[in-house]
Amino acid sequence: MCPSMVDKRSDDVRRMFASVAHRYDFLNRLLSLNIDQHWRKITRRKLCHELPSSSCTLDLCAGTGDLALEMAKCGSVIGCDFCRPMLSRGLEKARKHRLGSRVRFVEGDALRLPFRSGTFDALTIAFGLRNLENEIHGLGEMFRVLRTGGTLAVLEFSLPTTPGIRQLYLAYFTRVLPKIGALVSGRDGPYSYLPASVREFPTPEELGRLFEQVGFESVRSHQLTFGVAALTLGKKP
Ligand SMILES: C[S@@+](CC[C@H](N)C(=O)[O-])C[C@H]1O[C@@H](n2cnc3c(N)ncnc32)[C@H](O)[C@@H]1O
Repeated sequence: MCPSMVDKRSDDVRRMFASVAHRYDFLNRLLSLNIDQHWRKITRRKLCHELPSSSCTLDLCAGTGDLALEMAKCGSVIGCDFCRPMLSRGLEKARKHRLGSRVRFVEGDALRLPFRSGTFDALTIAFGLRNLENEIHGLGEMFRVLRTGGTLAVLEFSLPTTPGIRQLYLAYFTRVLPKIGALVSGRDGPYSYLPASVREFPTPEELGRLFEQVGFESVRSHQLTFGVAALTLGKKP
């Protein structure tokens, strides 16, 4: 594998998200025209029906808690992230929606999870895996903390492959989005980092192979919104 051209050192990534935490939700909704929330709902629907009645899900790289709050419709959730300003927003939202008894937030590093092996019925991670300093190591930790039969769901950006749509999307994603992101957040870096990190991230097929490499079975992938995002699922045997 080629070395990454994008700086993904954990300290830099943490600082970057801390610097945009105040505008993160607003920009997500604006830049995706609210479609990001639709993708989180799809993630919940794919998982909910296979969870036991008193399930516990770990939402990793939980950020401001959008997927954790969505997954709380199925059972208890722990949202884990290493960026405190992002988590603080999540906590505020959980309180506002009176979900404090269902969702807890824990500060922790995805590469060294502060949980015992075999703890969780499901593990979700939305737009987080791409940011890890070492993706395969992160997947290994996710495998470890899932119980036997537990499901991992990775929601990530991908790039459309259909000619025409791909070019249009790339023009938006690499030229328009970074400008709007910089204008609204007041920070140049993070919204240029986004398309650069997506370009380097494995395709859904490659990600599926990484799942298998760490031990997941029944791996499947769903393209979302013309392939702008993908949901990849796998089971711990
Ligand atoms: C793009 S945000 C995604 C937030 C949320 N999941 C969502 O759907 O909006 C990525 C998050 O991953 C977190 N993150 C990146 N590397 C991490 C690591 N090694 N351990 C824990 N969190 C990490 C960042 O702090 C940030 O909050």
